[in-house]
Amino acid sequence: MARIANRVAGFGTTIFTEINELALQHKAINLGQGRPDFDGPAEVIQAAVDALLHNANANQYPPGAGTSTLRKAIADHASRFYNLEIDPVKGALVTAGATEAIFSCILGTVDRGDEVILIEPYFDSYLPNLIFAGITPVYVPLHPPTWTFDPDELRAAFTSKTRAIILNTPQNPTGRVFTMEEMTLIADLCKEHDVTVISDEVYEHLIFDDARHIPMATLPGMLERTLTVSSMGKSFSVTGWKIGWVYGAPELLEGVSRAHQFVTFSANHPAQIAAAHALSLPGTYFEEFQAMYTAKRDLLTSALKNAGMKVNAPEGTYFIMADFSDVFDGDDLEFARYLTSEIGVACIPPTGFFSTEHAHMAATQARFAFCKSDSLLQEAGNRLARLSR
Ligand SMILES: Cc1ncc(COP(=O)(O)O)c(C=O)c1O
Repeated sequence: MARIANRVAGFGTTIFTEINELALQHKAINLGQGRPDFDGPAEVIQAAVDALLHNANANQYPPGAGTSTLRKAIADHASRFYNLEIDPVKGALVTAGATEAIFSCILGTVDRGDEVILIEPYFDSYLPNLIFAGITPVYVPLHPPTWTFDPDELRAAFTSKTRAIILNTPQNPTGRVFTMEEMTLIADLCKEHDVTVISDEVYEHLIFDDARHIPMATLPGMLERTLTVSSMGKSFSVTGWKIGWVYGAPELLEGVSRAHQFVTFSANHPAQIAAAHALSLPGTYFEEFQAMYTAKRDLLTSALKNAGMKVNAPEGTYFIMADFSDVFDGDDLEFARYLTSEIGVACIPPTGFFSTEHAHMAATQARFAFCKSDSLLQEAGNRLARLSR
């Protein structure tokens, strides 16, 4: 008889699936999922095509830890942008997207019964990953409207059982980029309590205005206790490739590698070859990428404000959190369903990215993605204007 295991029985269908289906049904502009509607750089895609067609070796298993060229490119990128010295052989590991990287980090460094601190709202795979591994989550919320944590709440979350904290900066969904002061407090607590940081930095190149991305590994004494995760998806607009990586001190990476070899063993070989090419693109690529996204952020920020929502323009990522309480009476799920079916713009209700205890903090918020063509964002703006009327 068909049977669902207890460990997944409580998961249900993700909110992304529900909103995507609703958006399709109502022909809504989908600003829900962070999925660009444009392609990555042509030369990066060409590098993958060349690998597929002209490199027979690339169509077979790559080394489990990733190709040596990509691991070197990961180490070079960390040195070029952050002045970090990473061992390309023992300090870098290629995974099936950041999603697998985070799961392998958890499996490889945290034991059943340990505690892991989650900053809320959190990326949706973190909690199920902890549940799979029998680990207890301890929540620290970011408070609206500034989306900052209370230092005392953070301090109180560290106990003798804390083994790791999962950090995400620039932060999905709030668009926050943690400041040096915030990063230093987290680092100090991790050192005091001997805690590992799993630092999800997939939006490292999506930074606006004066914000500066500070990798946790660059703080004094943190390289040896930080596993840095990133991926191709966001920085190169190829979310479908699912190539990610982890880098850190070889001793820390050892556990992650042991988990990875039995989670996926290895990641798509042709895409790894193209990823090495992408990471070596000149600085101008990253500057143009930021300029393109700054314009998109401004476009959607003014459209949301024009529709009567309260918005703090994000400092990073390609998401905006907007407070709809001036234009709609109801909770975030009701608003997302209404906006999708009646106004024709899909967004994500963010309470699902919080624990039950703290979900009320996002009850009047909606998350919008702006990784879309300008014409689509403009059309979304036209539709959203109907809200304020
Ligand atoms: C914060 C965060 N981490 C990880 C991921 C997943 O990255 P990947 O597609 O490389 O698995 C995402 C994707 O949306 C994300 O927003």
